[in-house]
Amino acid sequence: MKKYDFAFIIHPRDKQELLKSYPIFRFIPNFLLYFISPRIVGDIVYKDDKGKKLNGALIAIINLPFQFLKRDNKIKKRILAALKLASKIGAKIVGLGSLSSPAVSGGLDIKDQSNVSITNGNALTAAVVTDDIKQLSKIVKLHKKKVHVAILGATGSIGQGVVHSLIGNVDSMMLIARKQNKLDNLNNILKEQHPDYDISISTSVSEAKESDIIIVATSHYETVLSPEDVKSGAIIYDITQPSNLKKEDWLSRDDVFVVEGGLIRIPGLHVDSITGLDNEESFACLAETLLLVLADRTDQDFSLGYVIQENMKEIENIAKKYNVSSLLKAWDKDTSWGEIKRFIKNYA
Ligand SMILES: NC(=O)c1ccc[n+]([C@@H]2O[C@H](COP(=O)([O-])OP(=O)(O)OC[C@H]3O[C@@H](n4cnc5c(N)ncnc54)[C@H](OP(=O)(O)O)[C@@H]3O)[C@@H](O)[C@H]2O)c1
Repeated sequence: MKKYDFAFIIHPRDKQELLKSYPIFRFIPNFLLYFISPRIVGDIVYKDDKGKKLNGALIAIINLPFQFLKRDNKIKKRILAALKLASKIGAKIVGLGSLSSPAVSGGLDIKDQSNVSITNGNALTAAVVTDDIKQLSKIVKLHKKKVHVAILGATGSIGQGVVHSLIGNVDSMMLIARKQNKLDNLNNILKEQHPDYDISISTSVSEAKESDIIIVATSHYETVLSPEDVKSGAIIYDITQPSNLKKEDWLSRDDVFVVEGGLIRIPGLHVDSITGLDNEESFACLAETLLLVLADRTDQDFSLGYVIQENMKEIENIAKKYNVSSLLKAWDKDTSWGEIKRFIKNYA
């Protein structure tokens, strides 16, 4: 059996993606997916210019996004089975990709049953999002007196990490999620630490309407944001996997710029094309897993549950050593800060 240094868990982003790889499932009811064993579906190869090489395995759990978000024992067992496979092939650490992290509270629900170290990859993701939004808000500020940012999924693992590190870098924040009690808790903490800061909370996505930048960090499998909730000239920064935006909804909105974020470029990395990633491209959460192997930090779990600021700093410092750089896409095509600057100037 081929041995690997690390593994990263993925799953089909929707039924169409599942059918592309396994057409037979057109005739099989969804509940039978729970009986298909997790499997290795591709390689992650990292080679540096000094000849160091690491091999990672992409382990797919063949379940659909809605099944992960039931957050029940059935899906937990599937994630544990994937971890068992990872341990068998020699992986020192496993990254919980896409909805395999929200399904088990960012890894907290399974950490005691895993015999391999795990990370949800959210520390580097939150760090990348924060950096990108700081940069974006600087550009918006060239044309506007104040920058208003809405965070959809603000109470989540990544969302609250971003909120804490973004505070003070933009003029106001609208925090949006479904559960009022979680919003209240976060709001109380922030108000205590930053009593004069302009923070609002809401359970209604339409409250994003006045925002210049909207971060989409929700864990859902359907669209959470509609075009009527977004003003002309706004930038949407989406990190969700699978995307919580429906492309068709936005194609007629030339006055809104949709950026796919939470992505980075790592020299020497190649991830199997099943992920939709090109050469040297990575999801920040996958990159966190690889970087922990490079830094020899696999003896224990890293990011679990909510993102903590110390982890964000530590993984950012590791990332700097490996020349990691920011990557922005717009509907699967590379975009640039220059393009975004031109858009913002046009609609200012
Ligand atoms: N690009 C990358 O590299 C990368 C890396 C890691 C994760 N991700 C993606 O980032 C997203 C967030 O991950 P996470 O681990 O932070 O998830 P999480 O901890 O489950 O948090 C999700 C947040 O979204 C909110 N939410 C869920 N459904 C909603 C809805 N319909 N309307 C409004 N708010 C809703 C939740 O609030 P309630 O609790 O109130 O529902 C919570 O605040 C996922 O899509 C994940 O796949 C991307």
